[in-house]
Amino acid sequence: MQNVKVTKARDSFTSGLGVIAATLGSAVGLGNIWKFPALTGLNGGAAFIIVYLLSTLMAGLVVMVAELTLGRRSKSDALTTFKVLHPKNESWALIGAAGVLSAFLILAFYTEVAGWVFAYIFKAASGSILSADPKVTSAGFEKLITDPVQSVLWQCLVLVFVGAIIIAGVSKGIEKTTKRLMPVLFLILVMIGVRSLMLPGAAAGLEFLFRPDFSKVTGAVVLTAMGLAFFKLSVGMGTMITYGSYFRDDQNIPMTALRVMLADLTVSILAGIAIFPAVFTYGFKPEAGPSLLFITIPAVFSQMPFGNVFVVLFFVLGAIAATGAMLSILEVPVAYLHQRFGMSRFNSTVLTVVLLALIGSTAALSNSTLANFKLFGMTMFDLYDFVTSNFLMPVGGLFICLFVGWVWGEEKVRAALSNDGQLRNGAIISIFLFLVKYVAPVTITVILLRGLKVI
Ligand code: PHE
Repeated sequence: MQNVKVTKARDSFTSGLGVIAATLGSAVGLGNIWKFPALTGLNGGAAFIIVYLLSTLMAGLVVMVAELTLGRRSKSDALTTFKVLHPKNESWALIGAAGVLSAFLILAFYTEVAGWVFAYIFKAASGSILSADPKVTSAGFEKLITDPVQSVLWQCLVLVFVGAIIIAGVSKGIEKTTKRLMPVLFLILVMIGVRSLMLPGAAAGLEFLFRPDFSKVTGAVVLTAMGLAFFKLSVGMGTMITYGSYFRDDQNIPMTALRVMLADLTVSILAGIAIFPAVFTYGFKPEAGPSLLFITIPAVFSQMPFGNVFVVLFFVLGAIAATGAMLSILEVPVAYLHQRFGMSRFNSTVLTVVLLALIGSTAALSNSTLANFKLFGMTMFDLYDFVTSNFLMPVGGLFICLFVGWVWGEEKVRAALSNDGQLRNGAIISIFLFLVKYVAPVTITVILLRGLKVI
């Protein structure tokens, strides 16, 4: 810690509740309402959920505790953290550098999907996307995503929106916003869930969600489930290191991580409960994939009484979820530029947002101008999504575990975690050490190699 220059008091989260709101705000996102239901629908319902849960417990949650601990100890951004904690070998900072890269790649496609969600609030309110005929809702969605101007504009709008909150700061921007939005999110989700459960197809929907079909679970599916576990908990790319650096010293890290994981899982399951009964009631297919949200939902919900209100609510829910997540991803490069180059928060945000608008447009134009521009058979949109969830985040997570468990070492981990008064007895720390040294690295390595067909 000797060589950290602390010039001015660092902005940070101000209360335990603020920490939970911001961290949960990061975890909950399009992952819960866009990826989780789509991937569950495609990959065998409950069987996929079980594999996802196991990866969360054996890898995702472990990396989360590791990242938060590193960040809180170093009080630094994702890259500088490694330099501060291990000045002898600066190559560990490559983990942070890869994290900053991942942040750009994730935001490139994430802000695009968020742009569609924001656009759909207005389209649903004006009634223009509502129809009981999926052909009509599908045509409406096609029209939006194949229009280069609309796609880029909505993405830029989203970027400016989250950029403005980031400029306001960690406590006055991120913490304040997420603290207000998270309760609204839960409220809307429960309302839609209850409405959906009252439909005649509720039983079929729930059965689909909770009955496992293991025949669909291949090596690639297991990797997808693990990728989702990383994506969901926002780990493997420095977000949790950055947020950890804003934690107070008496915050109980393992408990916070566990709470956030459980609350996030609840949101995913509630999203499934909100969506699948409705899908079954009106005879749609649960395997619609990513279009489930934009094509199936408007068609399904517009058939029920007051459906239009629920469609608007659904996309407001999506927008709220996406906002907390985008704030946390954007914070990774912003915190780095701010700390490393001494740039003001304003300047580092503007620079990041401009760069993102450029990279993001390659994703935004993936369905129009750049539809035929493919690498490894994928459009830029799909490539950014695939590379981050199925490669960069798990690999980042693996190296973070190796760093914490083997390089930084047991003693430092114990010292860093026993700041939390409640952890004095050390049993939880011992369990964490076992997981971070052995269980998580082996799990991640095996799943990665199998999923990418190396073994
Ligand atoms: N956890 C967010 C979601 O589920 C996405 C995210 C990924 C956020 C990586 C931060 C970092 O939507």
